[in-house]
Amino acid sequence: MNKIKKSFFCQNCGAQHVKWQGQCNTCKEWNSLLEEIISNESSQNWAALNQRDNSRSSALQINQIRKSNETIINSSDQELNRVLGGGIVSGSLILLSGEPGVGKSTLLLQVLMNLNLKTLYVTGEESQNQIKLRAERIKSSYNSCYILNETLIENIFDQIKKIEPSIIIVDSIQTLKSINIENSPGSVSQIKGCAEDFIKFSKKTSTPVILVGHITKDGQIAGPKILEHMVDVVLHFEGDKNNIYRILRAKKNRYGSTSEIGIYMMESTGLSAVSNPNELLIPFKEEFLSGHAVACILEGSRPLMIEVQALVSSAVYGTPQRTSNGFNSKRLNMLLAVLEKRAGFALGTKDVFINITGGISVEDPSIDLAVIAAILSSYHDICISQDKCFSAEIGLSGEIRPISKTDQRIKECSKLGYKNFVTSNSSKIQKTNRKTEIITVSKIEDLITYLFG
Ligand code: TYD
Ligand code: MG
Repeated sequence: MNKIKKSFFCQNCGAQHVKWQGQCNTCKEWNSLLEEIISNESSQNWAALNQRDNSRSSALQINQIRKSNETIINSSDQELNRVLGGGIVSGSLILLSGEPGVGKSTLLLQVLMNLNLKTLYVTGEESQNQIKLRAERIKSSYNSCYILNETLIENIFDQIKKIEPSIIIVDSIQTLKSINIENSPGSVSQIKGCAEDFIKFSKKTSTPVILVGHITKDGQIAGPKILEHMVDVVLHFEGDKNNIYRILRAKKNRYGSTSEIGIYMMESTGLSAVSNPNELLIPFKEEFLSGHAVACILEGSRPLMIEVQALVSSAVYGTPQRTSNGFNSKRLNMLLAVLEKRAGFALGTKDVFINITGGISVEDPSIDLAVIAAILSSYHDICISQDKCFSAEIGLSGEIRPISKTDQRIKECSKLGYKNFVTSNSSKIQKTNRKTEIITVSKIEDLITYLFG
C-alpha cells in the first residue's frame, strides 16, 4: 500500500517545508504554511489526452532557429489590444487579476462575445444561467461563445477536445481541481498543477488561454508566486467600485511593454473603452477651489490629465495624519519632508490628505509637482487657476527634475486648452508655436514665487 506523503507549502510563495513553522524561510511571510498531500503521480491530463511527446529538444544556434509565425488575434477591444501590445498572441497564457466585483468576468465575456471565432468560457464560480444574464446586458456582435460550468480539469479538457475553441477563458484558476492532486481547490499544488496543464495545452495547440486569478487582501495574486513566472502576460484590472472608471495594466508582458494602460467605464451595458480620458477625468468647473492642481502624467504612450486634491489642516490628535488615495503614501511623506527642510514649511503639526480624482492610482513621479502645488494651495488657502498644468519630479534637495516626452505632454495640454505648462527648466522642449505658455522652474522656491508671488 502506498504511504500518503504530506508536506507543508507556503500559500504565499509556494515553497515546500518538511515541518510546520510560523514563518516561511523563503518569503518571510508569517502564518502562511499549510499541510498538503504530495501525489506521486504528476498531473498528466493534457499528456494523457495527447500521448506524450518523446522528442527531446536539442540546442540550436540562434540563427538556425526558425521564427514561428505567431498570429495575433485582434480582440476588437482597442484598450485590451493596446495593453497586450497589439492583440492576443496565439499560444499565450494570460493571467488577469483584480478585486472581486471590479469587472473581470464582464471584461472577458465581452471580449469573447465580440470575437467572430469559436470560443469557450469556463466558469467555476457562476452558473450558465448567470452568465447568460450577464451576456444579455452586454452588446455583442457574434454568437459563437460556448459556456461551460465545470471545475474538474479533466472534464474541461474533454470539452475542449470536443469543441476545439480558438480561445479559452478560465474563470477562475483558484476554483479548478484535478483528480490527480488530492488537495482542495485553491491550494498551491492544485493551482500549480492546473496552470501547468493549461500551459502545456496552449503551447502545443497555439490556443491562447486567459486565466482569471483572485487576489489576496493585500493585492497580491492568490496562490504561488511561481504562477506569475509561468504565464506570459500578467494583467491587473483595478478601479474604485464606487467610481465608474476601471484601469487595465500589464504587470508583465512577454510580447510588449508594461507601461500601457487601458481605461474603461463600467456602464449598465457592460464596459466601454474611454478613448478621450482627458476630457472626462477633469470636469469643467466655473469656480476654483484651493488645494486643487492639475497634473500631466504619462501612462504608457498617452499623456493623462489628473486632478490632485490636497487638504492641509491643523492636527487635532497628537500624531498628524498623512492619508493618500491614489498616490504612494511613502512618496507623500518624502515630499512633505522636502517641503519642510528645503522651503521651511512647518508641516510637522498638520494633517495632510491627498486624493487623486477618478479613482485612479498614479505611479508616474511627474505628478510630484502637482502634489506639492496642491499642498501649498491648501496650506495658504489660495486657489490655483485650473488652466495651469504641472508636470515634473521633485528631488530630495528640492530640485525640480526633468521629465520624459515633454513635447507630447505639451501638445496634449495645448489641445485641451491649458494656458500654462509648468515643468523643470532642464526638460528638453522643442520650440514650436503653441497656445500653451511654458513656465520652467528649477527649485521649490521658484514654484512658490510663481504661484503666490
Ligand atoms: P464582475 O464582472 O462580476 O466582477 P468580477 O468578475 O471582477 O468579480 O462585475 C461585477 C460588477 O459589475 C457588479 O457589481 C455589477 C457591475 N456591472 C455593471 O455595472 N454593468 C454591467 O453591464 C455588468 C455586466 C456588470
Ligand atoms: Mg467574476
